[in-house]
Amino acid sequence: MAIPVIDFSQLSGEERVKTMAQIANGCEEWGFFQLVNHGIPEELLERVKRVCNEFYKLEREENFNKSTPMKLLNESNGEKVENVDWEDAINLHDDNEWPNNTPGFKETMVEYRAEVKKLAEKVMEVMDENLGLPKGYIKSAFNSGNNENSKAYFGTKVSHYPPCPQPELVNGLRAHTDAGGVILLFQDDAVRGLQILKGGDWVDVQPLPNAIVINTGDQIEVLSNGKYKSVWHRVLAIPDGNRRSIASFYNPSLAATIAPAPQLVEQAGSYPKFVFGDYMSVYAEQKFLPKEPRFQAVKIM
Ligand code: OGA
Ligand code: NI
Repeated sequence: MAIPVIDFSQLSGEERVKTMAQIANGCEEWGFFQLVNHGIPEELLERVKRVCNEFYKLEREENFNKSTPMKLLNESNGEKVENVDWEDAINLHDDNEWPNNTPGFKETMVEYRAEVKKLAEKVMEVMDENLGLPKGYIKSAFNSGNNENSKAYFGTKVSHYPPCPQPELVNGLRAHTDAGGVILLFQDDAVRGLQILKGGDWVDVQPLPNAIVINTGDQIEVLSNGKYKSVWHRVLAIPDGNRRSIASFYNPSLAATIAPAPQLVEQAGSYPKFVFGDYMSVYAEQKFLPKEPRFQAVKIM
């Protein structure tokens, strides 16, 4: 079993209807799918891989070797290490300070983020259409107004999952569903590790060079009134290979009010209405737990 691979370029060709249906199926039945021919130049993706590899070597590796997961694993005496991830990550967005000791990193990642954000907005429009919502519905639901604080959030997490001497004793990234909207993942060409939970089994998100993996978070589940469910996923620690993974998150503004789209509500009350910032407060405490209690918790806030 492999997650769907969809040729995004066919969206503007003769195969448009078929491609729309493939994406609908990816959203409804899988919650995860991979796009090829997505329009982000290969030459840019090659540069992204190179600068991220260099960034890890120059600015992260030494610290990872002294990190909490490394210490806990060293002291574990063969017991599973809980409450920690075998992951090195930094977060890039428009308003924070970026690392600047790796030549070309900043320029390349600025360029990549602009491209992947455009792709996110195209994918969101496909979802609008497939859900029978007006074009731009999801994007505008993620923006709560016109000032800086009310704009949708777009963040990019540059992660590495370094080779792990005892992969059976620690998670690369513990199982969770994503809190936000639409996630676009540029994962390693070769090193595996990402899995989704499908019908009770963990299924690999098979590495596919230069593809972009799309998945939907809890807010798309709410907006779609449960039609597009956020799916559990995890990353395994791997003994050989340093897995690179660059996840971009298109999320609502913290001030945005999220609720099921009225067009999709047949009987009221299946999903709550809440302010996304309140949801994130709950998520911060409950990320690795089932999502249903989170929906309950915000409902009564
Ligand atoms: C995440 C996530 C997967 C990966 O950051 O939420 O699921 O491959 N990442 O890094
Ligand atoms: Ni995730």
